[in-house]
Amino acid sequence: MAVAADGRAAVAQTAVAAESRAVSSNEIIAEFVDVHRHYKMGDNVVRALNGVSMKVSKGDYLTIMGRSGSGKSTMLNLLGCLDRPTRGEYRVGGRDVSKLDDDALSNVRGHEIGFIFQSFNLIPQLTVLENLEVPLFYQGRVGAESREKAEYLADRVGLGQRLAHKPLELSGGQQQRVAIARALMNDPLFLLADEATGNLDSNTEAEILDLFDDLRPDGVTIVMVTHNPTVAQRADRTLWLKDGEVEKLVTNADRADAAPTEESL
Ligand SMILES: Nc1ncnc2c1ncn2[C@@H]1O[C@H](COP(=O)(O)OP(=O)(O)OP(=O)(O)O)[C@@H](O)[C@H]1O
Ligand SMILES: [Mg+2]
Repeated sequence: MAVAADGRAAVAQTAVAAESRAVSSNEIIAEFVDVHRHYKMGDNVVRALNGVSMKVSKGDYLTIMGRSGSGKSTMLNLLGCLDRPTRGEYRVGGRDVSKLDDDALSNVRGHEIGFIFQSFNLIPQLTVLENLEVPLFYQGRVGAESREKAEYLADRVGLGQRLAHKPLELSGGQQQRVAIARALMNDPLFLLADEATGNLDSNTEAEILDLFDDLRPDGVTIVMVTHNPTVAQRADRTLWLKDGEVEKLVTNADRADAAPTEESL
């Protein structure tokens, strides 16, 4: 218990640190300004994203939908700083990252973004505790504090009793909980999820979506790409892509006490 309380204190401290590092409340933590991503294919240019503007504020829960080929993965790669726009600006925590070199981009990824993948991407040889410490290991920050934080976050996602287990000794839903806790280890500005529930049955999917809801009062911000309308509707807003452009931005009725509306962009 004392460990959990200490872990909470450590997390609270780092949360304060993350708070002071970033902009004020209601802050925009991720913003696309007229973002284009074009691919040259011989003589042709594929306009995978063609002038997308959008904003994500602290505490937002946004899902991104659209038909196959509409630009979702392209947008996810840009949001995750795995790729750069051909044209336009991408701001993370107020800073334009669209022209950073690979090292600087990787730094933004490691410090500001918590990734959650469809296939969990845990390291099978490591225990739950060790998997949780991986993001801090790469920053040379493994020690008593990282351990307490990992213990706290494992507890937070309901896996406090599973610290010594390896991923294959856990269910799919439990593995995704570990991945969510891991994504939170660095106090990221936002979580970026790629079909986070795509490999789970519907009951487990509902549990993971409930966990996202449960984490939101902690100030967690979520952006998720999904093909699943039921999943998309659990977010406050859904951004629809079509042919590389924003088709519409919809406020989901059951999340915002309002009839579905399309917002102005
Ligand atoms: N590396 C690439 N080189 C050339 N064209 C690409 C590349 N990546 C994506 N595209 C093209 O960009 C467009 C958008 O692709 P993207 O993968 O972003 O779609 P998507 O919405 O993720 O589709 P899906 O739902 O099938 O995963 C498509 O026309 C695709 O063929
Ligand atoms: Mg895709």
